[in-house]
Amino acid sequence: MSTLFYNLDSDTALAAHICRTLEAEAGTLEVRHFPDGESYLRIHDACKNRQCVIFCNLFQPDKKTLRLIFLADTLRELGASQVLLVTPYLAYMRQDKRFHEGECVSSKPFARLLSQAVDGLITIDPHLHRYHSLSEIYSIPTLVVQAAPLIADWIAKNIQNPVLIGPDSESEQWVSEVARLANAPFQILEKQRFGDYQVSVSIPELEPYKDHQPVLVDDIISSGRTMLETIAHLDHSGLSRTTAIGVHGIFAGSAYTQLSEKANVVTTDCIPHISNKIETGSALANAVRQLQLKG
Ligand code: R5P
Repeated sequence: MSTLFYNLDSDTALAAHICRTLEAEAGTLEVRHFPDGESYLRIHDACKNRQCVIFCNLFQPDKKTLRLIFLADTLRELGASQVLLVTPYLAYMRQDKRFHEGECVSSKPFARLLSQAVDGLITIDPHLHRYHSLSEIYSIPTLVVQAAPLIADWIAKNIQNPVLIGPDSESEQWVSEVARLANAPFQILEKQRFGDYQVSVSIPELEPYKDHQPVLVDDIISSGRTMLETIAHLDHSGLSRTTAIGVHGIFAGSAYTQLSEKANVVTTDCIPHISNKIETGSALANAVRQLQLKG
């Protein structure tokens, strides 16, 4: 029997790509709000003994999570043999430490919640900083799609003589791999964050790379401050216009407007945005197949 595929999110293009690649059947959901604001959800498919996939991209997670829990729970109650979640962006991974007394380390309760709700999870480059793998907080099978080969391929096709820059120590894991695959030199800077919008980044040493094109690579672009601070240094180095590549382009507030004035901004299509240039649908569908085989 074919897989049932539910898109709980507005990213119809990526969801449709994955559904088509899996040769899955698009499930039919009825979702609305009661007059009091509570959610109503009904599944119009026979899901007994079927493998089900929920696509729910958990950026801006607070308004999506409850509906996801309701759908996963209903699928299980109706007899689905497996419920997998595809969330290209995995929320709350940056809250991996109690930075100030009394703070919620939200990555942990969020991981517990999702681990209870579904049988497996597929995501792209989650923000692993203080955790080394998702298994430290997720108790279900997880599969991580690496964006590095996709980014390296895009760079190879579009940028001549690149030098890659990572804005902080966390970015080394992605930047070093992209650099290896693209056969390019790279440099990792040091970042200090003083608040949501206050960031300082160390000055790169670009003297040996005067004839290179600077390519800044990071996993998440949120406020855009990390990229903007780094681009300001690159501007002073006399190199050509920077290409700023993000895996997950969240672009809070005016981040994209500010960034696109200073750099060519490129993102993967894992969050729908005008800057999407790198496709992730096939890699995500392959990951779903792998987790389905594990049962
Ligand atoms: C955190 O260290 C991440 O790797 C990114 O550098 C960070 O999330 C970017 O955030 P923002 O765009 O708000 O500076």
